[in-house]
Amino acid sequence: MLDLPFMEPKALLAIESSCDDCAVAVLNGQGEILSDLVHSQIEPHAPFGGIVPEIASRQHLFKIAELVRESFVRAGQAPRDIEAVAVTNQPGLIGSLLVGAQFAKGFAQALDIPILGIHHIEGHLLAGWGEPNFPQPPFLGLVASGGHSSLYHVDADYEIRLLGQTLDDAAGEAFDKIGRLLGLPYPAGKEIDGLAKKGDPNRFVFPTAFKHQDTLNYSFSGLKTAARRMIERSQYHEQDRADFCASLQKNIAEALVAKIRLAVSKTGVRNVVAGGGVSANSALRSELIALGASDHLPIYLPPTHRCVDNAVMIARAALRRFKSGERHRLDFPVEASSNWC
Ligand code: KG4
Ligand code: ZN
Repeated sequence: MLDLPFMEPKALLAIESSCDDCAVAVLNGQGEILSDLVHSQIEPHAPFGGIVPEIASRQHLFKIAELVRESFVRAGQAPRDIEAVAVTNQPGLIGSLLVGAQFAKGFAQALDIPILGIHHIEGHLLAGWGEPNFPQPPFLGLVASGGHSSLYHVDADYEIRLLGQTLDDAAGEAFDKIGRLLGLPYPAGKEIDGLAKKGDPNRFVFPTAFKHQDTLNYSFSGLKTAARRMIERSQYHEQDRADFCASLQKNIAEALVAKIRLAVSKTGVRNVVAGGGVSANSALRSELIALGASDHLPIYLPPTHRCVDNAVMIARAALRRFKSGERHRLDFPVEASSNWC
C-alpha cells in the first residue's frame, strides 16, 4: 500500500466480479452514484443448481468491457474523466476475481491513474458509507451472504476485526441449500423470502446452534440437516411450504440477531451495520429494526439492492481509502481467501 496525500477523484470506476455477478459503477468524488450496473449470471448457472466457477469467469470475460462502456454512457463520462479505479481483489472465485482485477489494472495503467484493490467484506460493511444515516465508526457489522456469516468490529480508524463467524455453512448457503431441497431455483434466498410472505413463522420449529452459549460464532449445518429430514419425511403443499419458509427465515434471522445483541454487550459498541445478500431478507430486516427499537441501537440497513453484490459498495470503500491517501501498486495481489473472514 502506498501512502500519498489526500485525493478526491473527479470520477471513480469500480468493478466487482468476485463471484457470479459482474458489477460496475461510476461515482463522483463526493460519492454521488453516476451509474450502477449489475449483470446477473443466474441463467447460465441455473441448470447446475449452483455457481460453476469456470462458467462464472468466462461470463465475466464476455461481459466486462461492454458493462464498463455502458456505465460510462449512463454516467455521462468519457474514460478520460475517470481519475481512479477500484476493484474487488479478495476473497472470491479466483478466476472471477482475476478478470475484474486484470481489467481494472489495465485501465489504470492505460490512463495512468491510481488504483485500489478492495476486500469484498469491507465493501459490504461500507456499502452505505457517505450516506447521511451511515454511522461514524466504531460500529459493529454483520455480513450475512452466500459465503459469509460473520460479525466484525470496525474501529474509529476503520480497522476491521473479526469477532465471530459461522463454523460451517453461511446463512445464505443454508437458504440456498434448503431451497434446493424444496425444489426452488438457485439462489433460493429471495424465493424463500417471497414464499414466506404468506406463511406462518411460528408453525415449524428449527434448531438454533449456540443459542445460549457465550460465543459470537454461528453454525447453520444442524439447521440444514433438520430441514432436510423434515422435507424428506413430509409432503408439503402450498401453504405448508409457505409456513416452512416463514419459520425457516424467522429462525435464521433470530440466530443472526441474537449474536449482534451479545456483541453489543461484549464490546459496548452500539452502532450496528448490516450487509451481504441475506440482509435483504425481510425477516432479518424486521428483526434488526426490532432490535434497534428495543435496545435503542442505531441500525444501518442498506437498501436491498445494495445488500447483494454490487460495485457501489466497492466504490464507497475505495473512496474512503483514496481520501485518506491510500493507493496500491499495480502489482497488488488477487486472493481467493482472506485473513479476516
Ligand atoms: O452478498 P451476496 O450477493 O453474494 C455473496 O457475497 O455471497 O449474497 C448472496 C446470498 C445468496 O445466498 C442468496 O440466496 C442470499 O444472499 N439472498 C437472500 C435474499 N436475497 C439474497 N437470502 C435471504 N433473503 C433474501 N431476500
Ligand atoms: Zn457479497
